[in-house]
Amino acid sequence: MSTAFDAGNGKITVPDIVSRKTSVRSSSNQSSAQDAGRGDAERRKIVCLTAYDYPTARLVDEAGVDIVLVGDSLGMVVLGYENTLPLTVEEMLHHTRAVRRGVRRALLVADMPYGSFHGDRNEAVRNAVRFVKEAGAEAVKIEGGERRMELIAQMVEAEIPVMGHIGLTPQSMHAFGGFRVQGKTVEAAEQILRDARAVEAAGAFSIVLESIPRELAARITSELRIPTIGIGAGPECDGQILVLHDMIGLSLGHTPKFSRRYANVGEAISHAVTAYAEDVQQGRFPADEESYHLSSQVRERLLAPRRG
Ligand code: KIV
Repeated sequence: MSTAFDAGNGKITVPDIVSRKTSVRSSSNQSSAQDAGRGDAERRKIVCLTAYDYPTARLVDEAGVDIVLVGDSLGMVVLGYENTLPLTVEEMLHHTRAVRRGVRRALLVADMPYGSFHGDRNEAVRNAVRFVKEAGAEAVKIEGGERRMELIAQMVEAEIPVMGHIGLTPQSMHAFGGFRVQGKTVEAAEQILRDARAVEAAGAFSIVLESIPRELAARITSELRIPTIGIGAGPECDGQILVLHDMIGLSLGHTPKFSRRYANVGEAISHAVTAYAEDVQQGRFPADEESYHLSSQVRERLLAPRRG
């Protein structure tokens, strides 16, 4: 698999993402000095999007995003499952390989699907290794906070950079009783703070904060040294991520309030297919210029009336 990029050629790496932390604790002199020494380029917010196949991976990468995530939202927006739980490691690997072929510049992160890291930790690390070795991922994402500490540390020990994911973790939908904003009470917000600290302490290089109040996300962002990537977590996060199909109008189910629609690709596809069907039915497609022709010599020989 060709994933060899030379340093300095614009390829975004895990240390590049870490260096893009926009704000760090003011209580530490060292942090403030580091912060003051950063250039504007390093302070730019981190732009992340999901992609699930070769063409979307290429388009998203060439548009200049920093991180491409093969999210397990794949299960819902592309494979038509009701939620993310049925998605398998093999399905995720298949799509991660396709995305790998389309991404040259961005950091490629693969989501660990439900069940692939919930049992034996050694098996979880073996599963994560498959994403790096067989599919070309440069990091994996793992849902969960405090209770994933040892696992994250073990993955980092195995040279696999880990992106954490806390708040509304869709793989916990049954435990949460649905898709609800998390961290709205003092106790719940304190647990999310503990989760964030645990993920950082375990060695994750960044953390997704999903569907939590803006104020809580801002507090976590100012406290952690690793970048926070928000989705439904307000504008103070160090970066933002959206599900591609939601933001281009290609999701057929419910889209959450935090997702902004930048295009209506679903409508464009419907119009194109309806127009094509009408053209075929009316004999307007294909036109002569969309057809191949014989040379006049061959035409004469082939189509001349046969004698005898
Ligand atoms: O699966 C996914 O797409 C995600 C992002 C929305 C963070 O986990």
